[in-house]
Amino acid sequence: MSIRRLPSDLINRIAAGEVVERPASALKELVENSLDAGARQVSIRLAAGGLDLIEVSDDGSGMVPDEMHLALERHATSKLPDDHIEDVTSFGFRGEALPSIASVARLTLDSRVAGHDGWRIEIDHGVKAGEGPAPLPPGTRIRVEGLFDKVPARRKFLRSPRAEYGACLDAVRRLAMARPDVGFSLEHDGRRGLSVQPSDPPTRVAALLDRELVAHGLGIDCVRDGLRLTGVVSLPTFNRGMADHQFLFVNDRPVKDRLLVGALRAAYRDLLARDRHPVAALFVTVPTNEVDINVHPAKTEVRFRDPAAVRGLLVGGLRAALDEAGHRSAAHVQAAAPVQWTSEPTSTSHFRESGNPASFSDRGASSGTPAFAGVTEERLEFSTYQPAARAEPATAPVPAFPLGVARGQVAATYIVAEAEDGLVIVDQHAAHERLVLERMRAASTGGSVARQALLLPDVVEMDEPDCDRLEEAAAELAGLGLEIERFGPTAMLVRATPAPLGRTDVPGLLRDLAAELAEIGTALTLRDRLDHVAATIACHGSVRAGRILSVAEMNALLREMEVTPRSGQCNHGRPTWVKLAHGDIERLFGRK
Ligand SMILES: Nc1ncnc2c1ncn2[C@@H]1O[C@H](COP(=O)(O)OP(=O)(O)OP(=O)(O)O)[C@@H](O)[C@H]1O
Ligand SMILES: [Mg+2]
Repeated sequence: MSIRRLPSDLINRIAAGEVVERPASALKELVENSLDAGARQVSIRLAAGGLDLIEVSDDGSGMVPDEMHLALERHATSKLPDDHIEDVTSFGFRGEALPSIASVARLTLDSRVAGHDGWRIEIDHGVKAGEGPAPLPPGTRIRVEGLFDKVPARRKFLRSPRAEYGACLDAVRRLAMARPDVGFSLEHDGRRGLSVQPSDPPTRVAALLDRELVAHGLGIDCVRDGLRLTGVVSLPTFNRGMADHQFLFVNDRPVKDRLLVGALRAAYRDLLARDRHPVAALFVTVPTNEVDINVHPAKTEVRFRDPAAVRGLLVGGLRAALDEAGHRSAAHVQAAAPVQWTSEPTSTSHFRESGNPASFSDRGASSGTPAFAGVTEERLEFSTYQPAARAEPATAPVPAFPLGVARGQVAATYIVAEAEDGLVIVDQHAAHERLVLERMRAASTGGSVARQALLLPDVVEMDEPDCDRLEEAAAELAGLGLEIERFGPTAMLVRATPAPLGRTDVPGLLRDLAAELAEIGTALTLRDRLDHVAATIACHGSVRAGRILSVAEMNALLREMEVTPRSGQCNHGRPTWVKLAHGDIERLFGRK
């Protein structure tokens, strides 16, 4: 066996495997080059998801012919004038992208520096195919045709042109968000996919992200220890089934960094069900010596010198903003959203169709996935419910409580209240669940949650592994007011339950806790585990849908909601209340 140096075209094709996995990654490299060249406008044309054609034109610095030749050589870059790779602020610096792309496609490079003539170089799969003068405005235009046509191994892993186009659009959207000062346009198979003018960051984000974020988003701007976080995140009630609308940036560079994604998730923990995700565009600014952006070939992951500080900034900053948004809920009736209540007076079946409390604001959050999917579980069938004629006569003037004064209960599930500015409907189960969690949390941070001893200890039969898990967590659970002991191999003895719960289904609670503990394992810190467990417990203490409440109980619930942080959504991110403003009611009756 003899050692040999690999020929350069082979090296390029190996590098291409890292740099250009699919059309979107080639496109990303080309657009980054345009941005590094100081472009003010980047225009992109794609055909068949980028497989047939990727063309990127810019009005940046351009290159003279000598520079063009160098640009197509491996490890030739203009972006490292000295050897300090720590101080890189450009998107590129490796000098690999162009030769890599040129090794797996036909590439035409046209470029012109203002005051000089334009020039063209053509490369066919790594081999020069021709060059000569070319007319073009100052700047650079690169065409990539037939990407991977001669690399069947790679072509096999590509998806449909539609999916590849989706990835291209996502890549451009991220770069366009990172650089609001630059105009971008993108055309696919002759149709316009995106077009934005130079603007300020909030306008750019709004143009590229769900429009509804204007109504359902929270602006973020906070500074901690020299790190800055800006951007916008959605209120918990405006969420998606996929984490695909999360745009994260470090020093104006799009990243898909696990630390940041995890911190975003942590900030919403217990405000969202586990399978729901917030929408976010977040910009982290850190001093360049605090971050290494060169750890990943596609430069999408970064390494922070002090990861804990970055995590703290995100979790702390977002949490504070979400708490401050308090009992604001994304379920306010939007002025423009058509109200879906039926105008026919009595039929219960009509009410059932539109009885989903989110239905009249769902429209506002219609970015593909309904924001409040699953909201109707656990609801009573309206048709089986016999209305109990209890109501508070509306004689007294309405005091200025944000959530109003209880006027009655509907379907033993919803509290109807009159506020100064409209009609409030509260989902009693969802609201109570939130209040119990917040009470338990407050109590557990101030010491421990009060217990209520059972007159006779309860014995709950369970699987051995479940008993093991509960036994192991017994001390944690005692802090939350739940006192349990092992009772033989397959049973637990329950001596006391958390007082905020009131009377509760003890075996059900233990089963859910065991399942929860199995799922979260030991990966989380004690504090995080406690929070999860508290949420599970809170769910059990709730005033279930179906319980008749007295007017005094209803008012007490409303008053407590007003002073409790995060009471606008239940522990699963669903709204706990909605309001029909007077104007909305008038519109229902055609008075407006
Ligand atoms: N659109 C452009 N306008 C002007 N110069 C460009 C353009 N694209 C590429 N170049 C020049 O070609 C060189 C090589 O580009 P290439 O993308 O291969 O490497 P790089 O950007 O330096 O590093 P990386 O491989 O990390 O992207 C760049 O350093 C730059 O000088
Ligand atoms: Mg580059």
